[in-house]
Amino acid sequence: MNNASSNKTRMRVWVKPTANFPPFAQPMVVSYFSLDQDRKFTADNSQLRYMYLPRAAEGLGWDLSHGLEKVQRADHSKSVEKIDNLLRGLLSSGLSINQEVASFMCLRGLLTKVMTTPYEQNQGWEILVSKFRGVLFMCAQETPEQRRERMSRDDAQKRFCSWGFKFEQYMTTDQPGCPPDIEMPVKEGEEFCCLFRTKLNDRRLLYGAEMDAVTSDVPLEDCLEDLMLAEFIELKTSRKIDCVRQERNFKRFKLLNWWAQNFLVNVGNIICGFRDDRGIIKNLAFYKVDEIPKLAKDFWIPAVCMTFLDQFLTFVQRTVWECPHSNDPYTVWRFRWEPGVHYVTGDVVNGRSQLSFLPEWFVSSVVA
Ligand code: A3P
Ligand code: MG
Ligand code: MG
Repeated sequence: MNNASSNKTRMRVWVKPTANFPPFAQPMVVSYFSLDQDRKFTADNSQLRYMYLPRAAEGLGWDLSHGLEKVQRADHSKSVEKIDNLLRGLLSSGLSINQEVASFMCLRGLLTKVMTTPYEQNQGWEILVSKFRGVLFMCAQETPEQRRERMSRDDAQKRFCSWGFKFEQYMTTDQPGCPPDIEMPVKEGEEFCCLFRTKLNDRRLLYGAEMDAVTSDVPLEDCLEDLMLAEFIELKTSRKIDCVRQERNFKRFKLLNWWAQNFLVNVGNIICGFRDDRGIIKNLAFYKVDEIPKLAKDFWIPAVCMTFLDQFLTFVQRTVWECPHSNDPYTVWRFRWEPGVHYVTGDVVNGRSQLSFLPEWFVSSVVA
């Protein structure tokens, strides 16, 4: 990268435990879209799934490896698509692209990662930012460690990932009231996504999030009004808890991620299938997202997470807006953090480079 600027900037990763929860408006659904197994975009609800609650004793003993040989994975296509489908979602939403509509746009997973940073001990992150029409677009970049981990995943690790998707198949249906067909191959690339809009302090955020299932006894119309009123549920799997150490880790890390991920999209309930080491579901547990912070109060504080997100966005905004080259949509700021390091660092690569992530079709499709 010969056009990398040597100007580095940094922010401290530290939030007072007594920090106040920053003002955060209730996130609203402003649009939605579907992705098929080939990650092909359609501006409809074709991939929307409905919650299928098993009868009392059903669900216990479900085998998450059932039909595993037929699974259709999507690891590779997901890792190369960057935020292209989110941008398609933005264009199809009809929203204008300007600062009044959004100061920041990204995928929800990126915000979850930033929020949990003050408590993260294992995985670092890299976030790329480009400015276009006053909006700061953010895109997670796979770190070298994450890439190494993905490339060296063995069959057992791939199986663990697929268990989560198989659980979703057992618990959801495309026709309310009709039991799912668990003989069908699980298609891990399919997604139903909503676009949310909210305000954190005085900044408008627009983000896309994959939604697991909606609770409804009747099919939803393919329209925004129905989705805005819909109640979504998050599905998770986790290894059953056998000892105090496992319970502590569950609260310290899993519940933190689950809370952050679902708080951001106003999802009120999570259903977790606790499994054994062979992938057999032993019990189902229900969690109210609002009550999670109380369950995990010895380990993390929601206000610290949200304050850190707020501080990070302030830092990004200041860094980008201060830069004289910030009006080129191909210029990329790169923000990095590694566990154990007390700073987020940022640097800039001016003009077109390997890091540029806003596609030309997007930039040129928006008429000035
Ligand atoms: P679990 O949630 O049961 O672990 P999500 O819960 O966010 O809807 O994700 C659905 C499933 O995708 C997860 O199930 C997990 O199997 C898989 N998954 C999510 N994030 C992943 C990641 N970073 N790497 C590998 N698999 C992942
Ligand atoms: Mg999901
Ligand atoms: Mg899930």
